[in-house]
Amino acid sequence: MVLEFTNIEELVRIASQAKENAYCPYSNFRVGAALVTESGEIYTGCNVENACYPVGNCAERTAIVKAVSEGHRLFKAIAVITDKAAKIMPCGLCRQSLIEFSKDLVVYIASVDLTFRVTTLSELLPHGFTAEDLN
Ligand code: THU
Repeated sequence: MVLEFTNIEELVRIASQAKENAYCPYSNFRVGAALVTESGEIYTGCNVENACYPVGNCAERTAIVKAVSEGHRLFKAIAVITDKAAKIMPCGLCRQSLIEFSKDLVVYIASVDLTFRVTTLSELLPHGFTAEDLN
């Protein structure tokens, strides 16, 4: 089922719901993400760990892979949430994965109480490496 983007609070709730599926027996650190496509569809993700630790996947990249594999290439926002009271920022690997598709992404960072702060991918990853640099 494809979810439709309605408002930010709802997006954060959807990310929180996605967090319920987190597979993180090694870190016990649950993360949920909800990524909004240019056309307003929402793809969710959670972290999926592995006994071979480096094989694990972050929530944000799970959402990207799901959306891109369904044909989406442009995104306008992502909400990320953990079980922490602090607002935890996306890791560097996820920032790089996101910039591949959307330099102007709006990023909502939520804490366990569903409150959130707003930032942008360009703020999180200034001077990022992109396809243009390969030319
Ligand atoms: N994690 C994410 O899902 N997203 C991030 O941006 C940071 C870290 C996950 C990876 C791992 O499963 C757990 O959090 C602890 O690092």
